[in-house]
Amino acid sequence: MLNARLERLNDYPFQRLADLLQGSEPRANIKPLLLHVGEPQHKPPAFAIDAIGADRSRWNLYPPLVGTPALREACAGYLQRRYGVPASALDPHKQIAPVAGSREGLFMVALLAISPPDAGPKPIALMPNPFYQVYFGAAVMAGAEPVFLPTSAGKNWLPDLDAIPPATLERTQIFYLCSPANPQGTCADLDYWKKALTLARRHGFMLVADECYADLYYTPRPPVGAIEAAVALGPGPDGHVLDNLIVSHTVSKRSSAPGMRSAFVAGSPTAIAMLNRLRSYEAASISHAVMDASVRLWNDDAHADESREIYARKYDIADRLFAGRFDYYRPAGGFYLWLNVGDGEAATRRLWTEAGIKVLPGGYLTKPDADGRNFGTPYIRIALVQELDATEIALTRMAQVFDAMAAEKCP
Ligand SMILES: Cc1ncc(COP(=O)(O)O)c(C=O)c1O
Repeated sequence: MLNARLERLNDYPFQRLADLLQGSEPRANIKPLLLHVGEPQHKPPAFAIDAIGADRSRWNLYPPLVGTPALREACAGYLQRRYGVPASALDPHKQIAPVAGSREGLFMVALLAISPPDAGPKPIALMPNPFYQVYFGAAVMAGAEPVFLPTSAGKNWLPDLDAIPPATLERTQIFYLCSPANPQGTCADLDYWKKALTLARRHGFMLVADECYADLYYTPRPPVGAIEAAVALGPGPDGHVLDNLIVSHTVSKRSSAPGMRSAFVAGSPTAIAMLNRLRSYEAASISHAVMDASVRLWNDDAHADESREIYARKYDIADRLFAGRFDYYRPAGGFYLWLNVGDGEAATRRLWTEAGIKVLPGGYLTKPDADGRNFGTPYIRIALVQELDATEIALTRMAQVFDAMAAEKCP
């Protein structure tokens, strides 16, 4: 009676974390600090929040599924400012689809790109390991076989595109890539994006660039976007610059507004028309009020600059406490620490009970390789999402627990 594919969606990381910590509580008199979810706790700008509810006249109207013209223009304007995309390469009204959070868009693009044959092997959905769960869930529900591409510090934490077997590429229908990556914080450069998009065009699959952390970076220059590679390569097989590419952006991280559920994808006119067709059956539209607020957010960069500055200060604290330990590095982007603590689950339990800090075991974000080895097992992911003061408290408490663990090993 129920869709059998759902049986495979049975190890969502936050459920596993709840199971792991079931029955254990932080010691008395300690305020818990949550660093396990990538849910920014900075204040979203008041000018956007005030826009919500300012116009009380449209609650009796269905919001347009394709977004308001002003929203599509604000999204396109952001891509033009941020990545120098020429206006000729991006028609706001044909190439932008507002979606209810990038989670929704990333899921729907699997249904857009994947069409399993009636017989024969399943199509492949490529994704990095570690990966964002929605790539996996979307691929499975669309009828594809997820294939996880290893990443390692030695390869800049990005999948080695040259190592993907040709037979795999032939069956691939979608390839999800995240830059800056969650949790490693690494950023793809222009050559990497060009190579990935060239593969997509050669083998006829959709490259999906999840760039939800695009404005959180700690390098002198902002990370290159996949859309810049498309502009550099020029039109693809169907004559359009964005052929074989979908880019995904959100206000959740850039504007610390995950509660708004507002994001957008950009792609070729054909892909966006088909996505709109698909979404008109599924209808997770954004309310008028949130669209109004989103217009203001996409049109403003100053608030994102301020937020990024606060994240940089948090990494200063992490540098001080963790440099030289746990394979710590200051990432190029994102807002995570990816620490090799030896046993991610054991450390997660101790951080919770002894310091009231909730983090995520790295192995919950990675799949085992063909030999059954899960390279994420020794890691923990720490989301630096609390305000600066709370982050300092949290990281200091964590360092104390780590010191105690080290002292137990070598008394
Ligand atoms: C890699 C990645 N993609 C997408 C999302 C979802 O973002 P949104 O809030 O826009 O749905 C997240 C959220 O944590 C994420 O880490």
